[in-house]
Amino acid sequence: MKTTLFSLSPLFLFLLFSLVEGLTPKCDTQDHGSTLEVFHVFSPCSPFRPPKPLSWAESVLQLQAKDQARLQFLASMVAGRSVVPIASGRQIIQSPTYIVRAKIGSPPQTLLLAMDTSNDAAWIPCTACDGCTSTLFAPEKSTTFKNVSCGSPQCNQVPNPSCGTSACTFNLTYGSSSIAANVVQDTVTLATDPIPDYTFGCVAKTTGASAPPQGLLGLGRGPLSLLSQTQNLYQSTFSYCLPSFKSLNFSGSLRLGPVAQPIRIKYTPLLKNPRRSSLYYVNLVAIRVGRKVVDIPPEALAFNAATGAGTVFDSGTVFTRLVAPAYTAVRDEFQRRVAIAAKANLTVTSLGGFDTCYTVPIVAPTITFMFSGMNVTLPEDNILIHSTAGSTTCLAMASAPDNVNSVLNVIANMQQQNHRVLYDVPNSRLGVARELCTK
Ligand SMILES: *[C@@H]1O[C@H](CO)[C@@H](O)[C@H](O)[C@H]1NC(C)=O
Ligand SMILES: *[C@@H]1O[C@H](CO)[C@@H](O)[C@H](O)[C@H]1NC(C)=O
Ligand SMILES: *[C@@H]1O[C@H](CO)[C@@H](O)[C@H](O)[C@H]1NC(C)=O
Ligand SMILES: *[C@@H]1O[C@H](CO)[C@@H](O)[C@H](O)[C@H]1NC(C)=O
Ligand SMILES: *[C@@H]1O[C@H](CO)[C@@H](O)[C@H](O)[C@H]1NC(C)=O
Repeated sequence: MKTTLFSLSPLFLFLLFSLVEGLTPKCDTQDHGSTLEVFHVFSPCSPFRPPKPLSWAESVLQLQAKDQARLQFLASMVAGRSVVPIASGRQIIQSPTYIVRAKIGSPPQTLLLAMDTSNDAAWIPCTACDGCTSTLFAPEKSTTFKNVSCGSPQCNQVPNPSCGTSACTFNLTYGSSSIAANVVQDTVTLATDPIPDYTFGCVAKTTGASAPPQGLLGLGRGPLSLLSQTQNLYQSTFSYCLPSFKSLNFSGSLRLGPVAQPIRIKYTPLLKNPRRSSLYYVNLVAIRVGRKVVDIPPEALAFNAATGAGTVFDSGTVFTRLVAPAYTAVRDEFQRRVAIAAKANLTVTSLGGFDTCYTVPIVAPTITFMFSGMNVTLPEDNILIHSTAGSTTCLAMASAPDNVNSVLNVIANMQQQNHRVLYDVPNSRLGVARELCTK
């Protein structure tokens, strides 16, 4: 079967879901042990799916527009222009791709949180939040809820804290959006693991169109992150398998802690950038298209702690972005291989930010990311997106936005789907193994 990225089309997803509804929405299943089910935002289990179906082209353009904002967020982080800890302003423009369930407070209230490996923060929309559009956490119903006081160390880690009352609060702005939150603590239960006195931002007010409606679970490794707050429980180790946009049953898993992690997996060292402590940098040394290692100037891939240049794995960006010289080399060789396979010079068209699209069926070469110690060869499903009717196919990668901060290569979630990605911070390594995680 010709597999397709119409998977991206909410219209298609809706049709799909209505067909398999009998099997699919096991949305109220319980998470077991330390493993959480991961849903795509378009999943029938997600209240954040688009309200009305979009055409394929519209949905691709929308995802790309969100990616654009995401890349600005990553670029601002890399440029060191933002402060790190809880709910810093950049997150206002992040939009989720994958969500997990968390239980907050005692007795537990279930909320859906966006999973984000490039953020440290946890934030949760709270009762009486002005401008929040999703399910709210009601602190007044929780017996374990505490406000963080102004003098506490947690309050000092927040950007621009203010102490009008005795409680620690902060305001953030990004462009025309803003958020006001209280710094609080409560028990957060992930799968069956209760984490007492977890510090997070309790969102009281948001303004501006780009504020994300749901809570956020930051899986970065900086201060106040989940990893920092659960050292004893999870030992800074987790893995996930992201479900494909087109899988019928549409859930993957987030496995927290060192227990039950894969043994047969290839690793590459994690690089630490003290200035961008949340990001997971790796050393991408080359890229192969088919059997050919393409010609990329070394500085396009090199890690540089001072400028923030290099390559990160990110769960929040949808399509992989490579800095211009790297992308151009990959794209040109890709087009050349497609033409050779077709024995014809096929017309190349563009769609939004994708510049390598075809309106006839193609035979695509594989693409291999060559990291230090680990080659990852992507199957076609991780490289190509196809329109619903199968009439358009695009290379699902793009050049990094053309601006001064464009130094970062981002391995994004479309390219990670159906792989287990293991973040092993104590051993300073990141593992990747193929895994069909549609369950
Ligand atoms: C926490 O602070 C908020 C506002 O500052 C207040 O309304 C609430 O009663 C406080 N809750 C507790 C448990 O102290
Ligand atoms: C923060 O935002 C809240 C709600 O919009 C507002 O009442 C408060 O004055 C703001 N505080 C500061 C320090 O800007
Ligand atoms: C969906 O899940 C059910 C039960 O978990 C399984 O039997 C079925 O094969 C799955 N379908 C697909 C397409 O993965
Ligand atoms: C493709 O175009 C190039 C240059 O325009 C030409 O030399 C080549 O013969 C063409 N190949 C095919 C298969 O048409
Ligand atoms: C990756 O592939 C290249 C060949 O393209 C090979 O030389 C290299 O040893 C491989 N690296 C690993 C870690 O397998």
